[in-house]
Amino acid sequence: MLELSVEAPAKINLHLEVLGLRADGFHELAMVMQSIDLVDELVLQPSADGAISLSCDKPGLPTDGSNLIVKAAELLKVRAGLPELGARIELRKRIPVGAGLAGGSSDAAAALVGLNILWGLEFSPTELQSMAARLGSDVPFCLPGGTQLCFGRGERLEALVPACPALAVLLIKHPDASVSTPWAYGRCREQRGRSYLSGEEAFERRREALRRGALVQALRMGGPLPPLRNDLQAVVEPEVASVHSGLSLLRRLPDTLAVAMSGSGPSLFGLFADRQQALAAQAQLAAQLAEEGFASWVCGFRRAGAMLVG
Ligand code: C5P
Repeated sequence: MLELSVEAPAKINLHLEVLGLRADGFHELAMVMQSIDLVDELVLQPSADGAISLSCDKPGLPTDGSNLIVKAAELLKVRAGLPELGARIELRKRIPVGAGLAGGSSDAAAALVGLNILWGLEFSPTELQSMAARLGSDVPFCLPGGTQLCFGRGERLEALVPACPALAVLLIKHPDASVSTPWAYGRCREQRGRSYLSGEEAFERRREALRRGALVQALRMGGPLPPLRNDLQAVVEPEVASVHSGLSLLRRLPDTLAVAMSGSGPSLFGLFADRQQALAAQAQLAAQLAEEGFASWVCGFRRAGAMLVG
């Protein structure tokens, strides 16, 4: 029986700037997103019954039509005009859910990549990108992954060239904490809406400032990183206790290159020059992380997004 495995890596935000509000109700963003090697795996098999069936090793995760993997599969079938296509999909979940790490979005991107091959559809990367944008704002990034400047809702991608050095990441998340993305953007609008930019010219000036700014230069050249900006962090940190306490733990570490929240949270991360330093920081914080109930992971930057294994 034909079987394919696809890796779906998580992402962190090295920059998340809310520029303004768009006509479609979404926020216009300027971001730098980075894939990391904390990875879900999808195992795909064709089935002849025209059904998409999803199973997952993490209890409680919805596996019905509300799961983005199933939505991705159904969208591919519609675009191909082939309702008879079926697949059995097994999701091995490693990325924490509802964490600001784009786990669900990356799973959807991996489903697009894998099923396109499994079903022999031969959709081009551009066609897959357009389907990804239909599924969610972070899904387009998760296809190529690596380090990308992301504009628009998040779907307009510009790869960072040359690629940035492979930094190490100490990621922490409180298992009981979750932040609703619409809530975070809603709060941002309440608090900062009056100073939002408007109009394409103003947006483009900020995009250009990001392209030419200290962060992108440091990532390209490998120099010291400036403090990272995440506009949603300013909204979430005062209201979510574990984000507040987790950031203070990470900020106390001596060797971090930078500390920030990812996406709309509640995942938090510190960046380090190498894996050894990240592991040392994890060991140094072990007692406090355990006391406050944080889960933690040490991982590294990854150069690519959703990808076939082997
Ligand atoms: O596109 P996605 O489904 O990931 O977005 C989830 C929610 O996050 C949206 O419904 C919206 O409330 C908010 N959002 C936004 N602007 C963006 C991306 C997301 O306001 N660019």
